[in-house]
Amino acid sequence: MPLREGEYFILYGGPKALYLLKYSKGLRFSTHLGELIFPEHIEYGDKLKSNTGHTFYLLFPSTSDLILFIKRKTTIMYPKDIGYLILETGVSYGKKVAEVGSGSGGLTVALATIVGKEGKVFSFERREEFNRLAKANVENYGLSDRVEFIIRDVALDGFGIENMDVVFVDVPEPWNIVPKALEALKPGGFWASLSPNIEQVQKTVFKLEKNGFIRIKTVEILEREILIREGKTRPRERMISHTGYLTTAQIVRT
Ligand SMILES: C[S@@+](CC[C@H](N)C(=O)[O-])C[C@H]1O[C@@H](n2cnc3c(N)ncnc32)[C@H](O)[C@@H]1O
Repeated sequence: MPLREGEYFILYGGPKALYLLKYSKGLRFSTHLGELIFPEHIEYGDKLKSNTGHTFYLLFPSTSDLILFIKRKTTIMYPKDIGYLILETGVSYGKKVAEVGSGSGGLTVALATIVGKEGKVFSFERREEFNRLAKANVENYGLSDRVEFIIRDVALDGFGIENMDVVFVDVPEPWNIVPKALEALKPGGFWASLSPNIEQVQKTVFKLEKNGFIRIKTVEILEREILIREGKTRPRERMISHTGYLTTAQIVRT
C-alpha cells in the first residue's frame, strides 16, 4: 500500500542516519549522505538511493521512534521506563488514564497510542507553554481524538475526574499528587511515578503508604546495548543509564 499524504515513516540509512519523516507529494530530504527525492508512490520496506549513491530504507516508525522524535522543551520519559510502567499498570486498549504533567508529551504519545480510539488520556499541565507543546506533538501524530489536555496545577486543585485505571505522575514533587490520586483512581487502580532522585522516591513512598496504597514497588531500569561483532562482542561504552526511579502502587477500597 503506497504511503498516504501525512503518513510518518522512518528513513534509515544506518544507525547514524535515521530520520522520522512525514510523507507529502514531491518530498525531498537532504542528509549528510546525500539528497533524496521521493517518487510519488513509496511503500514501507522500499529501498531508495540518495544522489551520492547511499542506500536508504523506508520503515514503519516504532512507538519509541515517535516518542524520541517529538519537539522537546522538558525532559521526556524514556521508552525503557514507559515500557515497564505500561506493562506493570496494565494499560491496554480502551483504558482510561490520567497523567501529570504533560511536559513535552512524550508519555502522552505512548499512552494515546496504546489506549486507542476506545480509550482516553487526560493530560494535566500547570504551564501553558508545555500544554501547547504537548498538544502540538500529539496533534502531529494524529492522536488528538483520544487525549484531553487540561491546564491545572494538580497539587493544588486535584484532577477533577474519577474512575481512572491508572495515574501517571512525572513531576518534581509527586508526593503532593498522592492525595489527589485517591479521588481520581478507581478501587484497585494503579499509581505510576518517575523521579530522578531517591529522596523524592522516599517521600512519595511514605505518602503512598500513609494514604492506603499497597503493593508499592520501586525499580530502576538500565538500558545497555550490546555490540555483536566477530570475536569482539561487548557492551557499548555509553548507555541509557539513570533517568529516574519508577514507583508503582495500587489503591484499595477503604
Ligand atoms: C518532566 S516534565 C514531564 C515530561 C513528560 N512526562 C514527557 O514525557 O514529556 C514535568 C512537567 O510537569 C509539570 N508539573 C510539575 N508540577 C505540576 C503540577 N503540580 N501540576 C501540573 N503540572 C505540573 C511541569 O510544568 C513540567 O512540564
